[in-house]
Amino acid sequence: MKQEYTAIILAAGKGSRMRTDCPKQFLELAGKPVICYSLEAFEKSPVDHIILVSGEDSLEYCRTEIVDKYGFRKIKNIVAGGQERYDSVWAGLQYVKSDYVLIHDGARPFVTQEIIQRTMSEAAKTGSCVVGMPVKDTIKVTDQENYAVRTPDRKCLWQVQTPQAFATEKIRAAYAAVLGARHAADVITDDAMILEHATGEKVKLIQGSYRNIKITTKEDLLIASAFIENSCQKSVDINRK
Ligand code: CTP
Ligand code: MG
Repeated sequence: MKQEYTAIILAAGKGSRMRTDCPKQFLELAGKPVICYSLEAFEKSPVDHIILVSGEDSLEYCRTEIVDKYGFRKIKNIVAGGQERYDSVWAGLQYVKSDYVLIHDGARPFVTQEIIQRTMSEAAKTGSCVVGMPVKDTIKVTDQENYAVRTPDRKCLWQVQTPQAFATEKIRAAYAAVLGARHAADVITDDAMILEHATGEKVKLIQGSYRNIKITTKEDLLIASAFIENSCQKSVDINRK
């Protein structure tokens, strides 16, 4: 029987580090809202269903200005998120009916078909995987006064991206366990950590892309515009041949 996949796209954050009135996932990037880029990628992919998680006060905006306006057909639910990212994921997980779930930051517009498909096949093979890239900079661990106390071997360090993909029941059970013990949730910044905390299971990292950035601060919008310009440029060059 064909396995089914659902993507949860997270767009319920407030974007405090961006310092704009409009949450960053709804800011315009080269003519359309940031959130549209990842929704388009998942709409085009072999993923079966999409659940969009937005802030409670943006549900109507998402329905009319995103889903209806851009004609996304795989979006079956628009769900209100919560205070923290993990609350928003948990809200989305309640609606997942398929075997596997891919969790993706709506603020990451440059996820590609290759990345989505790689994530889907690895999740089906191992039950969980996370996209990331080896870090380029040296990373130092500091004490509370910002003195470097350790320099981990760079070869073992990855920056973690999304999508993160899991067998649905496995990640749902892990979320229930960790959110049940609320104090444990305070340090959680991604979904793989939930599985690690709840089960001690190792999560496989697979290759994403250095372009698969998360728009977090104003600089990232400049980088994102440059990526878009660069890919438009490429297609012009090809057309001219
Ligand atoms: N997110 C969410 N619900 C939250 C917090 C975050 O759905 N309560 C989503 C964001 O919309 C984003 C992704 O999770 O797509 C990654 O989070 P992050 O980059 O931290 O976004 P924000 O929390 O919005 O930004 P900041 O931390 O600067 O406030
Ligand atoms: Mg945040």
